[in-house]
Amino acid sequence: MLVLMLVSVASLRLCSVARAQPLCRVHTVRTGKVTHDDHASPGNVLYFSSATRLIKHPCKKNIALYLGQQLFFTRNNFESSLPPLSIPTSMQVGIPEVTSAHFAGSLLLLVVNKKVYIYNYRANYWTASTGINYPVSHISGDNCCYSKHPFCLDISNVVFAYLLGDQLSKTNIYYSENWAYRFHEYASVTQEELLGSLGGIFSLHSVSQIGLLFIEQGQAKFEYSDHPLNSSFGLPFDYNGTLDVLIVPGQKGILIFWSEKSLLVSRNSGQLVFPVQVQEGPGTLYSSVLDAGITIHSVAANENGLAVLTREDNLYYGSLGILTSLIVKFPHQNIWSPQAALMFTDLGILEILTPLPDSKFPAFDFQKCSVNIQAVLMDPQLHIDLCKVEVLQGTFDNKMYTIDMNSKLELTAEMIPRPGTSPVPFAMVSNPHSLGLHVYNSEDGYTYDGNTKHRLNISLKQQHHWGRADSNFTSSIKKPTFSTITVDIANKEISCVDLKPLTALISIGCDLKKKIVVQNEISACYKGILDPVALQDNYSYVIEKGAYNLNFQGQKATEDLVVHYPYEKLGCPLLVHYDTPWKPVVELWQGGKFQEVVEAEYVLLEVNGLFTYTYSLTAGTALCSSQPQNWTTIEEDSWGGPFAWDRENYMSCHNPNNDSPLQWPNVPYQILGGPTENKIIFDQRNGIYIFIIYIVDPYYSYCHLTTTFSIYVYGAFPLSILRSEITIVLIMTTILLSVWLAYVIPKWLPTEQGHRFKRSWDGLCDRCRKSCACFQFRR
Ligand SMILES: *[C@@H]1O[C@H](CO)[C@@H](O)[C@H](O)[C@H]1NC(C)=O
Ligand SMILES: *[C@@H]1O[C@H](CO)[C@@H](O)[C@H](O)[C@H]1NC(C)=O
Ligand SMILES: *[C@@H]1O[C@H](CO)[C@@H](O)[C@H](O)[C@H]1NC(C)=O
Ligand SMILES: *[C@@H]1O[C@H](CO)[C@@H](O)[C@H](O)[C@H]1NC(C)=O
Ligand SMILES: *[C@@H]1O[C@H](CO)[C@@H](O)[C@H](O)[C@H]1NC(C)=O
Ligand SMILES: *[C@@H]1O[C@H](CO)[C@@H](O)[C@H](O)[C@H]1NC(C)=O
Repeated sequence: MLVLMLVSVASLRLCSVARAQPLCRVHTVRTGKVTHDDHASPGNVLYFSSATRLIKHPCKKNIALYLGQQLFFTRNNFESSLPPLSIPTSMQVGIPEVTSAHFAGSLLLLVVNKKVYIYNYRANYWTASTGINYPVSHISGDNCCYSKHPFCLDISNVVFAYLLGDQLSKTNIYYSENWAYRFHEYASVTQEELLGSLGGIFSLHSVSQIGLLFIEQGQAKFEYSDHPLNSSFGLPFDYNGTLDVLIVPGQKGILIFWSEKSLLVSRNSGQLVFPVQVQEGPGTLYSSVLDAGITIHSVAANENGLAVLTREDNLYYGSLGILTSLIVKFPHQNIWSPQAALMFTDLGILEILTPLPDSKFPAFDFQKCSVNIQAVLMDPQLHIDLCKVEVLQGTFDNKMYTIDMNSKLELTAEMIPRPGTSPVPFAMVSNPHSLGLHVYNSEDGYTYDGNTKHRLNISLKQQHHWGRADSNFTSSIKKPTFSTITVDIANKEISCVDLKPLTALISIGCDLKKKIVVQNEISACYKGILDPVALQDNYSYVIEKGAYNLNFQGQKATEDLVVHYPYEKLGCPLLVHYDTPWKPVVELWQGGKFQEVVEAEYVLLEVNGLFTYTYSLTAGTALCSSQPQNWTTIEEDSWGGPFAWDRENYMSCHNPNNDSPLQWPNVPYQILGGPTENKIIFDQRNGIYIFIIYIVDPYYSYCHLTTTFSIYVYGAFPLSILRSEITIVLIMTTILLSVWLAYVIPKWLPTEQGHRFKRSWDGLCDRCRKSCACFQFRR
């Protein structure tokens, strides 16, 4: 198809008298007015206070919201007439003025009269957000469309609400982690120190940062939340009037800032922001929208391109390629009206949408004018160079991958250039602070239409593991992050409209397929010490009051505890002899496959608070350089809330940066695994212990690896006394018996009875020699 198009371009070029085709063809959508009117319930009809705008759901192709004198919400891409969107009177919004809108998952969020409302369009249900006590004007958030993976879906949970233009020193910023249902105040550490006003706050998932845009004296810059970007600001850029900020879908870090008189773009989440240049015709290039003297009416952006409709009734288009920031004027056609809005409906297809009121019915019709950008760009009057690339492909495009601690990822991409050209493919990551890449560019022997096919082998791993990590550049390896990888063509022509860059989302975080399992080779059931039938039958056991404490603090409880044994969950306990220092063998499994025995540091907690065990090492003998954590300190740090000892709060006592001095070297060292040979030493007590195990080593995996298992400790005091008594009695009896036999048998064998007995015994022995161990009387 592409080839066909190229052929047609070539012929167009040859035939220079070819007539420029119209920019777009207008058609009107007008449907079923009499039969159905689904928004019959009256409410307050919403309106938008700024210039018209169209917001598309980034993941759901046909869902969009038009904002203008009325709002129109569509689930079929405006393919039917619609009544204006209204909010139920029960919401009591007062003035139904909308200042901001955002799609979060399958919810539409609106700021109406300085408060946030949620419209669940699937259930046709409205709710007001809670937790916001001061007026807000804007909301911001992002959506992830790469996968149904929970980490990708979670991106839409995060929503900020704020009052645009408010003084930073006193403004209230709100943050929600559940699609705006509940907000709480967001406290940015340095917010109080910043002068100036608020230009917005955004979750910048492409760099795993929160970016606060602040404006001071006509300049704006970003302040970031986390290391390493928190130590510096983004570079300042001119900020005139109030800029609208668009986060381009795809987590590539592309931001667009616009107002009537400015249009700026950033490709690295606001660290560098440039004005977009304007090309009015061949050879007429302006450095900015202001210079070009145009007034922007509406802006639309998708993963690949940027379109601008101006008051002067012109349409401009630009590619969002890595190195270009230029918009090109399209041939004129009367398309503008104050109600017109722009949106991309497909790769390379732009639509200008204008709602048309109907004097007889409440539902509006829609005038649509759809522009095939590729076709327009082929207009010879525009003098646009042909795209040098015919094919750019990679199996990773639009997918999501996970890189857990110490793992890597290999991807390949292929590029086929147009004959006689040599475009340069390249790959880059959005978050070089956490993800590093190596690209091996090979020209395969295979040729395609006389041209060499290029293959890019891309090797990705955590930036820390490329061996050139500078802590001032890399983000904390402990913290999970996101990045995207994009493969594109350097200096791509604007005409490469159909040639989408290849992008994948990489989660540098927990691989959810990882699980840990405690090896249970010798179970107490196998040894016959516990009866599996009894265990399965609602088995319970008693922990005596002197052996446990439910607060895990070591003081004795006042009552015995009856514990139901959860056999379905734990199976038969592992058998452990009380007298042998013990530690579990922990296995790592991934997606049902055994990977390795875990050598990382972990901790154990007996779930019923049994404390009849200790550890073989102390802080001193474990060679700690600082006071190690223990369950007591972990519980104290939780301030009475639920507590866990995990990779988030673990501090190794061998870490030279840990500054708590080693004051009590004799306390038990409660961490197992890792560099020490620490083991558990049991008291003389038999019984079931149910342990929960947490891998605490923060560098083993981003996952919170944990599991519960049970052991049965045997061989200890009361039972062993009974056993040894029996043993002693048995031994004594045996000795006495043999002494007596030694005396009696030699006397008895020579007799007649003795002979008969010997013969029959020998015969019996012969018969069973093969299978039985047999004692024969020999003289
Ligand atoms: C940046 O954030 C890190 C933690 O993420 C913090 O330790 C550091 O002090 C911060 N730096 C600045 C300059 O705020
Ligand atoms: C902002 O306005 C100033 C003058 O007021 C002008 O010099 C500057 O170029 C403008 N910047 C943009 C991005 O429009
Ligand atoms: C790229 O990867 C392919 C297999 O995926 C391999 O056959 C080829 O040798 C690699 N090329 C380079 C330059 O590493
Ligand atoms: C990191 O930055 C600080 C301050 O800017 C500097 O003192 C230090 O030497 C830098 N570290 C490295 C490894 O470059
Ligand atoms: C299991 O035993 C407990 C008491 O130990 C009893 O309350 C419970 O009803 C029993 N459940 C079943 C299913 O037998
Ligand atoms: C836990 O560590 C603290 C010191 O950090 C120590 O005072 C306390 O005795 C320890 N607790 C146990 C049970 O070892």
